[in-house]
Amino acid sequence: MVSRNVDRLITLEEHIIQSQNRFRGATGELSQLLRDIGLAAKIVSREVNKAGITNILGLEGSENVHGEHVKKLDVFANEQMRHALSRSQITCMMVSEEDDEPVKMESSSGKYIVFVDPLDGSSNIDVNVSIGTIFSIFRRKSHRADLPDDDDILQSGLEQVAGGYVLYGSSTILAYTTGLGVSVFTLDPSIGEFFLSDNNIQIPEHGSYYSINEGSFTTWSKGLQEYIKSCKVEDKDSGKPYSARYIGSMVADVHRTLLKGGIFIYPATQKHPNGKLRLMYECNPLAFIIEQAGGMATDGAQRILEIQPNEIHQSTPILLGSPKNVEEAERYMKAYAEEGVAG
Ligand code: AHG
Ligand code: MN
Ligand code: MN
Repeated sequence: MVSRNVDRLITLEEHIIQSQNRFRGATGELSQLLRDIGLAAKIVSREVNKAGITNILGLEGSENVHGEHVKKLDVFANEQMRHALSRSQITCMMVSEEDDEPVKMESSSGKYIVFVDPLDGSSNIDVNVSIGTIFSIFRRKSHRADLPDDDDILQSGLEQVAGGYVLYGSSTILAYTTGLGVSVFTLDPSIGEFFLSDNNIQIPEHGSYYSINEGSFTTWSKGLQEYIKSCKVEDKDSGKPYSARYIGSMVADVHRTLLKGGIFIYPATQKHPNGKLRLMYECNPLAFIIEQAGGMATDGAQRILEIQPNEIHQSTPILLGSPKNVEEAERYMKAYAEEGVAG
């Protein structure tokens, strides 16, 4: 359940500083980094809101490393994030969905590595449906005098220092966690300030929404097919079948799941045998948020956060949401896998 403990308006900046005071020895660098991300979010939000009138819609003309058409807004958001992260010399490396290789920042002695999906849900830009930005922050392991190396970049999600997202929806919200619960802020566009709107969000233990691209049904594992079929029959508690919801922007589907409960799945399919969603800048930060809210995020067998990455752009199947729903889905998938049913 969402606890609304907002007696007076608390800004993102105030909240970050208050949280920083809970960490002994904090230098304020992470706080500054989060504030920089907040600034980039406001600039992207402004651009998203006037996208239709500034001719920014449509293809930029190039393809990204995944062979996808890049939209102008993807490029814009990527640039804003890079500018924001270079402001305070705290980030030594940025890894983005839109950049083939990790981008070294001017300050190679910076303490943090930031992973980002600058614009999630690009196929929804042209149709005015919610999109977002997702970020994940790690502390480098190497000495600050050295150049960052692979051990700095390929850390498991358990080592995230912070993770979060911005959702450009009917309002713009920013959610983040540093491992002390999940806080959500809503942008007041008239004064350009994020205010705390929900603190310590807890995901419902069980929910009655399922969220998956059912167009790929025939290419799923038998276990997953049977699980989704079971969502369509009467639930023993509510007496009703689940409702289907699929926006096609992971960040928006996950935000709804966080607030309303249920399950979001992007599984292995014939076209995407390792799933489609990227571990480092889509799955890890959203798994961190969902776990901090009392939910679960797995690849069907293992916690997302425990996956040891070997490549910055690798993808993974993902199931996340209310713990009871995720456990139930895993039960189906494991049962059929044990029976040796293909897929
Ligand atoms: P991106 O726009 O960053 O490439 O991400 C799109 C992703 C994700 O947001 C969404 O959940 C998924 O693509 C939708 O994919 P399908 O169209 O295959 O369902
Ligand atoms: Mn994405
Ligand atoms: Mn993207």
